[in-house]
Amino acid sequence: MNPRSVVVTGAGRGIGRAIALELAHTGFDVIATVRTEERAEALRTEVAGTGAAVRTVLLDVADPTSCVTAFTRIAGMTDGGPWAVVNNAGFAQPGAVEDVDDELVRRQLETNLVAPARIARLVLPAMRDRRAGRIVNVSSVAGRVSLPMLGWYCASKRGLESVTDALRMETEPFGVKVSLVEPGSYRTGIWRTGAELLPDDRASVYAEQYAAAGARLRGGQDLPGPRPVALAVRKALTARRPQPRYLVGGGTRSTTVLDAVAPTAASDRVKQLATGLRSAPPRVTRALARLRVK
Ligand SMILES: NC(=O)c1ccc[n+]([C@@H]2O[C@H](COP(=O)([O-])OP(=O)(O)OC[C@H]3O[C@@H](n4cnc5c(N)ncnc54)[C@H](OP(=O)(O)O)[C@@H]3O)[C@@H](O)[C@H]2O)c1
Repeated sequence: MNPRSVVVTGAGRGIGRAIALELAHTGFDVIATVRTEERAEALRTEVAGTGAAVRTVLLDVADPTSCVTAFTRIAGMTDGGPWAVVNNAGFAQPGAVEDVDDELVRRQLETNLVAPARIARLVLPAMRDRRAGRIVNVSSVAGRVSLPMLGWYCASKRGLESVTDALRMETEPFGVKVSLVEPGSYRTGIWRTGAELLPDDRASVYAEQYAAAGARLRGGQDLPGPRPVALAVRKALTARRPQPRYLVGGGTRSTTVLDAVAPTAASDRVKQLATGLRSAPPRVTRALARLRVK
């Protein structure tokens, strides 16, 4: 029997690359999409160096024509269409809601929310004909917990969660299984890209927060590598009954539970403190300083 073919979008680096590698070593026929021929070649060479193989297709998920061209080509490579798609390509647009203009908002929503739905439309007819298929959408804890200075990213992922929930119920009677993977924070290029996308701080009332966020984003990447996310995607593709959602990473479950049950005023305050929108009351600062001295 031919191996099952799985398309992974945004597979040239970060989480997508980890997913492509993991699935290739699991025995799937991986079709990794990237945006440039150089990245395609680099990825094929890198995977070959680990003793596995991927095929590559060029795709900009935010461009509808590119999506149609890529998935027409993929249909030709896979006997009518892939068995599964992992919608991973995405980025995080930082900035206060007030500072992100319409064009940037559209780009964020187009890439993280509209594109996965468009790709589902392109692959579902063949999956339905075969009465088999899987779609895994890579969301984020930010799809469940909204954070200041990251409002549009959170909106894109919250929207993706909502659409994915509807899609899962719609396609289940036709044998197509749909899951969400919701990672916490992992060491990838998303942080550096985010730093480059920070709004112009000189023009903003949030200049101080952007300066601090920029330093954090550009600075230490003291985070784990993305393999746990790839393992969760593998589970969603190999389990007989995949879960609707896979939260990945230490602290993600407690974060989502706390955010759901804590009074909004309290969780708002914690998030404001964490993003520098408010400072701790003087007595808390003094107590913390005393702790530090000891
Ligand atoms: N890292 C984390 O902590 C984290 C946490 C939660 C969720 N996520 C999600 O995980 C996914 C992957 O992010 P990452 O952390 O691996 O970031 P990354 O290292 O920056 O990789 C992002 C990938 O998406 C691709 N991409 C972006 N826009 C695209 C477009 N219009 N068309 C095609 N490809 C596009 C990039 O391609 P190029 O190489 O061509 O730029 C790159 O391969 C995203 O959906 C992100 O929201 C990440």
